[in-house]
Amino acid sequence: MSEIQTKPVFKPNKEFAKTARIKNMCEYQALQDEAMENYEGFWGRYAEEKLDWMEPFNEVLDESNFPFVKWFNGGKLNVASQCIDRHLESRKNKAAIIFEGDRGDKQIITYLELYYQVNKFANLLKEDFGVKKGDRVVIYMPMIPEAAFAMLACARLGAIHSIVFGGFSAEALRDRIEDAEAKVVITADGAFRKTKPYMLKPVVDAALEGCEVVEKVLVVERNNEDVEWVAGRDYSYNELIKDKSAVCEAEPMDAEDPLFLLYTSGSTGKPKGVQHNSAGYILWAQMTMEWVFDVKENDTYWCTADIGWITGHTYIVYGPLAMGATTVMFEGVITYPDAGRPWKMVEEYKINQFYTAPTAIRVLHKTGEDEPKKYDISSLKVLGTVGEPIDPPAWKWYYEEVGQSKCAIVDTYWQTETGGHIVSPLPGATPIKPACATLPLPGIMGEILDPETGKKVGVNEKGYMCVTRPWPSMIRGVWGDPERFIKSYFGDVKKDDKAVYFTGDGAIYDEDGYITITGRTDDVINVSGHRMGTAEVEAAIKKHWNVAEVAVVGKPHEIKGEGIFAYVVLKSDNGVADEIEEMKIINSHIKQEIGNIAVCDDIVFAPGLPKTRSGKIMRRILRSIAKGEEITQDISTLEDPSVVEKIETMVKSK
Ligand code: WT7
Repeated sequence: MSEIQTKPVFKPNKEFAKTARIKNMCEYQALQDEAMENYEGFWGRYAEEKLDWMEPFNEVLDESNFPFVKWFNGGKLNVASQCIDRHLESRKNKAAIIFEGDRGDKQIITYLELYYQVNKFANLLKEDFGVKKGDRVVIYMPMIPEAAFAMLACARLGAIHSIVFGGFSAEALRDRIEDAEAKVVITADGAFRKTKPYMLKPVVDAALEGCEVVEKVLVVERNNEDVEWVAGRDYSYNELIKDKSAVCEAEPMDAEDPLFLLYTSGSTGKPKGVQHNSAGYILWAQMTMEWVFDVKENDTYWCTADIGWITGHTYIVYGPLAMGATTVMFEGVITYPDAGRPWKMVEEYKINQFYTAPTAIRVLHKTGEDEPKKYDISSLKVLGTVGEPIDPPAWKWYYEEVGQSKCAIVDTYWQTETGGHIVSPLPGATPIKPACATLPLPGIMGEILDPETGKKVGVNEKGYMCVTRPWPSMIRGVWGDPERFIKSYFGDVKKDDKAVYFTGDGAIYDEDGYITITGRTDDVINVSGHRMGTAEVEAAIKKHWNVAEVAVVGKPHEIKGEGIFAYVVLKSDNGVADEIEEMKIINSHIKQEIGNIAVCDDIVFAPGLPKTRSGKIMRRILRSIAKGEEITQDISTLEDPSVVEKIETMVKSK
């Protein structure tokens, strides 16, 4: 049965294509053919061309210990130098970072200034805190330039950063600190949101209670609110940075030395520390920046993500800086003071590429449909989306009103684990279709496979989105858990008897061979473009003393894409006196365990959960009930079939 209706096709803008790096589908195909025919030659060529090596590599790819692969063996380089030092000759006075604060305050940081700031930061970490190659440093920061300095300072020293999104709670922060055994935490007193100060340091204080591993905490003073200082542990960045030298040698790193960890949700309650290494990651970050956004020397590029997510890593900091671009960093909320804020910024900074999440587009569309018209946004050339499928009405508005029907929309499909885009249109080459990620990028052997046979699926048949050969920016490991690495990504699909990387997403080909991502095949849901493990939310709810059982599923949500829907069975059997009150209690528990991002949109206090006789919770039934769908499967074999009807009635009456 066909799931995809034929979609309209939009050809690339001819003027734009003339100067694009990849100008047409013939050029795309030639690159993809080159990679297929001579995979190592293809990657070796780019690694030599795009990266500055301190010592050359002597082998492109070592797969002998697959899936633990090595790219560019023998090569030495430093990622911070890739992002800064090598630009000093031709771009020292070019803006590297343009920062706009929440209250409209601005900073333009040139490549030379960035060089000095990062060197000083690295010297501080080294001299005052003893940070050295291989140490883990947790960064819990707002969207301020010091966050980027901190990342690059770690990279300069060879320390491994692990950024924890500022919306995570103290508990979640502690888990990540402990798992990575970080010896230093870099944070800020807080920052500003909607012109009001908010705090981060108190969360760090709570996370470190009883936590033995962290020796020092560095605090950037951003909002100058009062915070508590623990003597001998907490230090002010603003003070310590004053006397630091602006010169710091970059540590020569092996191509496969780890660059960072980033924790992400999986199908168990415990988040995974996704590990990315130096050379392969930075190579693909730079190549995708150049191909997918086609940023030119004088362009200004803006990605609205937070540095706490992979998009912020690859497409605010590492990718743009590796290619020597000007990247905009924004502290504020894009709908504040009104939904014209991003377009006002586009006008003011003459932004050429704008990259955001469908959730943001839906909000901007809903709350400020006519706002783009009020500003001169003619500088825009490429628009991007990331993180979740975009729905056609939001796409249409983005294309027509924001893109003025002349900008390509690149629907970039990728994940924390892939390091950079893997399936995406090329703005000067690929004819695009609304809400479709189109084709694998050159060099990426992306295929939709049948999990049973390992064969490529036919047109309109659902299959698993896989990558059949390792690529340079592929995840290198799950921190401290090699078993989980193998099991999570290489355990589900085999092609020609060889395990291949499985993304966890379902996908489908259309008649043109275009790929549409249909969503996760596991119990992971996508809330506002962020991955949320249902098991993680369940584990948080279960910690509440009065909860006997819980099952969490996703439910379509107008703005967020998916909302979180929980079925909770309470221990006390005297019913729920006040559902609203009880829901608040459960949600405040989630806020404490994970953070605001995991708060449930709906909670149903169920008399029981539908289970098989062997005790397995039937999530499929619960998903259908949450969506208000008819239940088609046979429920007569359940342990207690009557529970289904009871829950259905409860959900309907909500
Ligand atoms: C999951 C990865 C990629 C950076 C932000 C999220 C979903 C991602 C798309 C897209 C449809 C998408 C997938 C993927 N996803 N991009 N263009 N169309 N779905 O990173 O938290 O690692 O989540 O986001 O389900 O597996 P993440």
